[in-house]
Amino acid sequence: MMLSEQTCTMEQQELVNGLLAEQKYINPKFFYDKRGSELFEEITKLKEYYPTITERNLLTQYSSEIASFITSSAVIVEPGAGSCEKVQLILDAIRPKAYLPQDVSRRFLEAAVVNLKQKFPWLSIEPIVSDFSKPLQIPEDHRDDQLFVFYPGSTIGNFEPNDAVKFLKNMRQLVNEKGGVLIGVDLQKDVSVLEAAYNDSKDVTAQFNLNILNNVNRHLNSNFDIKTFTHKALYNTELNRIEMHLISTVAQSYNILGHEISFNQGETIHTENSYKYSLACIDKLAEETGFKRVKTWTDAKNYFSLNFFQSV
Ligand code: AVJ
Repeated sequence: MMLSEQTCTMEQQELVNGLLAEQKYINPKFFYDKRGSELFEEITKLKEYYPTITERNLLTQYSSEIASFITSSAVIVEPGAGSCEKVQLILDAIRPKAYLPQDVSRRFLEAAVVNLKQKFPWLSIEPIVSDFSKPLQIPEDHRDDQLFVFYPGSTIGNFEPNDAVKFLKNMRQLVNEKGGVLIGVDLQKDVSVLEAAYNDSKDVTAQFNLNILNNVNRHLNSNFDIKTFTHKALYNTELNRIEMHLISTVAQSYNILGHEISFNQGETIHTENSYKYSLACIDKLAEETGFKRVKTWTDAKNYFSLNFFQSV
């Protein structure tokens, strides 16, 4: 639905459209304001939240094996690199020709680059500041290099499956036939383990989920009352995804940019999907996007996978 006679930003438009939908939703990118990024950092340290620690362990333990696929002639591109934490676990083993971290936040990237330069003085770092409105561009002088995309964190799990395919097709365009992708993907497992990871005992994930409304309030100049919402995360076994919702505990109504947004008691806002894959699904993803999965590293419990895709 179009917003009439209001000048509003694309982000406001996107938020209002989601809140007017039959199943209300908010794009998970709105989690990551300053507080949200801090809360996510806290999540990664929770005992129930296995993905971050498991992936870090895989990168550390298998760095030399990874370096047999991604050698010193490689140029590594990292979309959404943020603080460039995880790449540091494999840089010494690989010693790549260059590292190209991309992010939307110039401030974040600049700080990360200062930190990297200190720890890896030999490394050639070429940050790319760009947003999602235009496709990631590799600088001219690296177009013929052997390019590898590093995409850790199971960020791919936030995409709808068809969008994950689109994203990897774009990455395949970026890296040409000599390159590949090193991608972290969270695996399907016991529902109890999955649900505990998103319903932690310290309620950090609940705070993270609820905090999205603070950010929405800032964007829309709205007054969503956080006290009237609660956190819910559950595993959808049909669609193989964790769903996060905010439940309105009361019937309530808001007027936002000229639109009435009303909630029945118990009605939810869907805030995130986190898809979980099997190795067969990962193979299919690679095949559909011009890659072949040639190597996968997993932990002893098979909780998380680090996959090397080679262009075909
Ligand atoms: C950053 C998208 C990988 O899906 O596990 C953590 C985000 N949400 N707890 C995930 C998240 C709730 C996380 N990703």
